[in-house]
Amino acid sequence: MIGKHLLSTEDLSQQQAIAILDTTAELAAVSDRSVKKLPTLRGRTVVNLFFEDSTRTRLSFELAAKRLSADVITFSAKGSSVSKGESLKDTALTLEAMGADAVIIRHGASGAPYRLANAGWIGGSVINAGDGTHEHPTQALLDAYTLRRHLRDGSGGLAGARVVIVGDVLHSRVARSNVHLLHTLGADVTLVAPPTLLPVGIESWPCAVSYDIEDPLPLADAVMMLRVQAERMAGSYFPSALEYSRLYGLDARRLKLLPSDAVVLHPGPMNRGMEISAEVADSPRAVIVEQVTNGVNVRMAVLYLLLGGADIDISVRDGER
Ligand code: CP
Repeated sequence: MIGKHLLSTEDLSQQQAIAILDTTAELAAVSDRSVKKLPTLRGRTVVNLFFEDSTRTRLSFELAAKRLSADVITFSAKGSSVSKGESLKDTALTLEAMGADAVIIRHGASGAPYRLANAGWIGGSVINAGDGTHEHPTQALLDAYTLRRHLRDGSGGLAGARVVIVGDVLHSRVARSNVHLLHTLGADVTLVAPPTLLPVGIESWPCAVSYDIEDPLPLADAVMMLRVQAERMAGSYFPSALEYSRLYGLDARRLKLLPSDAVVLHPGPMNRGMEISAEVADSPRAVIVEQVTNGVNVRMAVLYLLLGGADIDISVRDGER
């Protein structure tokens, strides 16, 4: 249904995206049971291959695989033979020799998951858990699932939903994955950033662009704040953190510009006091903690669909909730 690998949201059709979101809803019902485990992937091996730091993505993929009864190996480049110079190819061949059915990869190099999927080193599925500044498809899927819970249209998509994404678009794989997926689901996306934090070629992305955060807020259904990725910044992209926060941060005053039912998202980790104030992050309008919960269910759905669990009934029967 969704193919063998999940490398980008740009590759997903609307039908495939909705199938993942609908499966997530089914699995969320399982996660609400007292016994949360399904036997679907018993005997299958899932490898978390993380060359960059992660809290949410790594832990939620691990929990998702365990909830589906897979055996899980978590590999961090730190403390592995990568620090002795071992290549991606030799690392991949080692995992293949151990019988990995799926490899979930986060890598600092844009395109690393494509290399893994297409070079023939790995026989199983490859899932992109964030590659450089390129894509983070499961983050966009969990964001779309969260938005759908709050803004759902009748078609199962997000037709006409107005989503504003603010911040460091240049270094953000989350922004790119969200723009493509939200466009596929029918939403209208506006990116807001200083000109220095927009990538070359932004005019070809399926979204509007603004340099003024306050302009699109009054009509927004949701605003997604992006982390300022200081670790990817070699030069100076804005005068100071204070200046960035003043011009592009979401604080309590700007929150009041949003419609009263609009929600605030952030993929995490947050720079509190920079792109988002603590008051906004902790406000009832923020769905940031819910995004984390939804991330487990979305990643269960992706593993379930990619590893061929779709022939097993996951529907919740009466008395099992
Ligand atoms: N949103 C996200 O990718 O968070 P982590 O870096 O903690 O995985």
